[in-house]
Amino acid sequence: MIKEPLAIIILGASGDLAQRKLLPALFSLYAQKLLPENFHVFGFARSEMTDAAFRARATERLMCRYTPEARECATLMEQFLARCHYVGGDYGSSDAFRHLADVLRGEFGTLNVNRLFYLAIPPSVFLDAAHALNTSGLVSHDSHKGWTRVVIEKPFGHDRASSDELVTALGQVFTDEQTYRIDHYLGKEIIQNLLVLRFANCIFEPLWSREFVSDVRITWKEDIGIGGRAGYFDDFGIIRDVMQNHILQMLALTAMGRPDKLDAHHVRDEKVHVLRAIQPLAPEDLVVGQYAAAEQGAGGRPAYRGEPGVPPTSRTPTYAAAVLRVKNDRWRGVPFLVECGKALNGTLAEIRLRFRDEVGNLFHPGTPTLSPNELVIRVQPDEAIFLRINNKVPGLGMKLAPTELNLRYRAAFAGVIPEAYESLLLDVVKGDKSLFIRADELAASWDVFDHVLHDLETHPREPEFYAYGSRGPRSVAHLAERHGIELETGA
Ligand code: NDP
Ligand code: BG6
Repeated sequence: MIKEPLAIIILGASGDLAQRKLLPALFSLYAQKLLPENFHVFGFARSEMTDAAFRARATERLMCRYTPEARECATLMEQFLARCHYVGGDYGSSDAFRHLADVLRGEFGTLNVNRLFYLAIPPSVFLDAAHALNTSGLVSHDSHKGWTRVVIEKPFGHDRASSDELVTALGQVFTDEQTYRIDHYLGKEIIQNLLVLRFANCIFEPLWSREFVSDVRITWKEDIGIGGRAGYFDDFGIIRDVMQNHILQMLALTAMGRPDKLDAHHVRDEKVHVLRAIQPLAPEDLVVGQYAAAEQGAGGRPAYRGEPGVPPTSRTPTYAAAVLRVKNDRWRGVPFLVECGKALNGTLAEIRLRFRDEVGNLFHPGTPTLSPNELVIRVQPDEAIFLRINNKVPGLGMKLAPTELNLRYRAAFAGVIPEAYESLLLDVVKGDKSLFIRADELAASWDVFDHVLHDLETHPREPEFYAYGSRGPRSVAHLAERHGIELETGA
């Protein structure tokens, strides 16, 4: 256990992320004794709330995943909540943060403790908050007074230029060393396993290139719409919300070369290499869609344009598919079809590598159709890795069928699978930056999409409408076909 006292300060503590993810993750770390003995959580937001109200709200979301025994869990919750405090105030007010500093001093008897700031607030207030924190004296650059670390949530900017500006402006308050840019997909268990799968199993690496892989598909979908997030989503759209970050990070980990070492520096260097090798996306290789109302019979599910807060003529994409090309020796010629969308026919995140099928059909000469092998890494739900192989169907004849060698996490591993935010918050406390986004990585990610994002703004196109709960825009099939990708296999 880490010994030094720790103050965790959550800005935006009244919000969805803080309540639904951060406080439960901190409680889980506490339940596993992974937080320092002397820690306190300080929620900060504009809403007026007493400590008691803050704790009552938090209680609704805490889970006993690591301590299923009810009495033990209730005791731990009580102890955890006693260390949670709430301070109200404006994000741009140094006075409000001075008051927070007083509360913090009151709990620890000093201000000189390790300080973790989590900006769980809309990006529009990041800078005001950073400056006010700084002038209030809460940010320290003197390691003798405890470290200061700040976690910043995505989206980091709107495009390459605004992202660079944000990096520079935040850099005036927090050093790069102090800054942790989070993409919570990197904390997901199976994403963390990607490097292990690739580099701890000698059977995969020789096959992991254009020589054997015909195409790679990364699919992300949710079966729900944007819920109450119109204010944010309509400004950003799905390319900035999911494709530029979560999907591109999955792609980078799938396509990157082997790092010399597993430290934050080497792993991120390799990611940057591969991200820079991705050709900027061309408008003709992008399909954008928007959900329309559900087809008859599935009533009650509105069109995106009918969601509260969405302008009735909004062209914001809720679905995007793109073919990306990685211009390096390993991947030249291999299309990466990446796809993400809201209000589709299921919830899924997976990476699918399809292998070339050029060995001929020894078993049924003259018929070309042996199913290609596929390796599927299912991130969620129901984490799994499976390899699709051709197998003899048991029986007297020689009948072949595609079958799966299937590693289902929940069947194979007894323990609890940690939530992404548990893993990432613990890394921040430990000072491990391997799973956080470096500034050059961020810039390289925006470069892939900058051109199409500006093109969509200067030449607005009507998105292709798809019914809520459907498979999404039909023209993704043409996009795939143009790049020689067969969608049917395993789809
Ligand atoms: P919320 O919309 O819930 O906002 C968080 C808090 O910020 C609110 O409770 C509110 O608190 C304050 N706030 C909201 N709008 C404004 C505004 N216009 N000006 C000033 N303060 C405002 O956001 P989330 O909790 O969903 O997300 C927080 C951050 O995390 C965002 O950057 C988001 O993009 C990112 N994120 C969120 C995820 C999630 O699952 N929710 C996932 C990944 C990233 P109050 O009024 O009390 O001050
Ligand atoms: C967030 C996006 O980053 O990730 C949301 O802003 C999306 O739109 C969410 O719903 C999905 O996260 P998870 O962990 O539930 O897959």
